[in-house]
Amino acid sequence: MKLVKTVKEVREIVKEWKKQGLSVGFVPTMGYLHEGHKSLILKSVSENDKTVVSVFVNPIQFGPNEDLASYPRDIKHDMALVEDAGADLIFNPEPEEMYGSHFTTLVNTTEVSENLCGAKRPVHFGGVCTVLTKLFNIVNPNRAYFGQKDAQQLAVVKRFVKDLNFDIEIIGCPIIREDDGLAKSSRNTYLNKEERKAALILSKSLKLGLEAIKNGERNVKTVTDIITKSLNTEPLARIDYVSIVDNENIQYIDTIKGEILCAIAVYIGKTRLIDNFIYKCEE
Ligand code: PAF
Repeated sequence: MKLVKTVKEVREIVKEWKKQGLSVGFVPTMGYLHEGHKSLILKSVSENDKTVVSVFVNPIQFGPNEDLASYPRDIKHDMALVEDAGADLIFNPEPEEMYGSHFTTLVNTTEVSENLCGAKRPVHFGGVCTVLTKLFNIVNPNRAYFGQKDAQQLAVVKRFVKDLNFDIEIIGCPIIREDDGLAKSSRNTYLNKEERKAALILSKSLKLGLEAIKNGERNVKTVTDIITKSLNTEPLARIDYVSIVDNENIQYIDTIKGEILCAIAVYIGKTRLIDNFIYKCEE
């Protein structure tokens, strides 16, 4: 397993692989890797001849009052995990290598990025689409792997890849949870002991919403009220949003039909956590 810091070197290595007819899987990350990332890497390793993992805390997807400076970083730990999962290369550029001193291009979607996290974090998805456009052009993968935990990000990536004709298959992978139900996230590390316990209210509340839908409830407001009421029983929780949208265009709906995404963002203390479920109505 090799750690590479420059665009030039990644390009040369991937070009050589492609010359040999090898397929390349790609797992873009911001590092501080956990079992969720590992599941993406393992899937890529099982489906491709070579796997590249990028570790880059992308400054342009953070808003002015967000956690760019404090975002956890540990490249030694990341290298060990990536090696263990069987990937071939980590691309770990410095911000200067990615953006230089005069970067003025922005790739963005409309519609799919306007609600949920897009409404709360106005610069976020433009930053994600821009860095992924660069990373896709640098790594030139056949397939790229994303976690379903960032469900809106997955929908946004699928859209811009389709709209801009990238020849890359985008593969969504299930949420990986702790034994007690908390969705794995690099940001869980911000939680103190009391907050960690309080954070369980996210998965518990979603479960109540899912049960209601499985029992036949089709009114969006009724389901979001059930989830909201449950979240409000936790004194350390402050709701950012509780929403149900269609899972393709991420637009608000009144009635549950087709494939829906039920997504929540909740502050536990100062830490903003997200979680979700997808449900496909058969009727
Ligand atoms: O999901 C993430 O960690 C980031 O948004 C991504 C896709 C690596 C882009 O910086």
